[in-house]
Amino acid sequence: MDKKILGPAYKDVAAKYAGQDVVDQLAQKVMKGGGGVWGQMPMPANSVTPEEAKRLVQWVLSKK
Ligand code: HEM
Repeated sequence: MDKKILGPAYKDVAAKYAGQDVVDQLAQKVMKGGGGVWGQMPMPANSVTPEEAKRLVQWVLSKK
């Protein structure tokens, strides 16, 4: 939630994208995986539906 482990802390993600329209873009990244924004370690693809990915990202972005 508030500490970087393999990926960034959710609160750091929320702070980075505050006020930006990034839900669809980040939902794609949660589903397909990807890297290069927070460091060398990429995020693996996660097996969630588009609706689930969007809800997860909305939840992450609410953690300011
Ligand atoms: C095994 C599970 C997971 C691992 C190991 C993981 C790891 C990572 C890593 C290493 C990054 C940084 C990627 C970069 O530098 O661009 C990242 C970013 C992120 N992760 Fe995950 N992640 C996992 C699951 C999830 C799940 C389930 C969610 C949804 C709640 C999620 C949401 C995000 C978001 C929103 C970012 C920011 C992407 C960006 O700024 O472009 N991750 N994750």
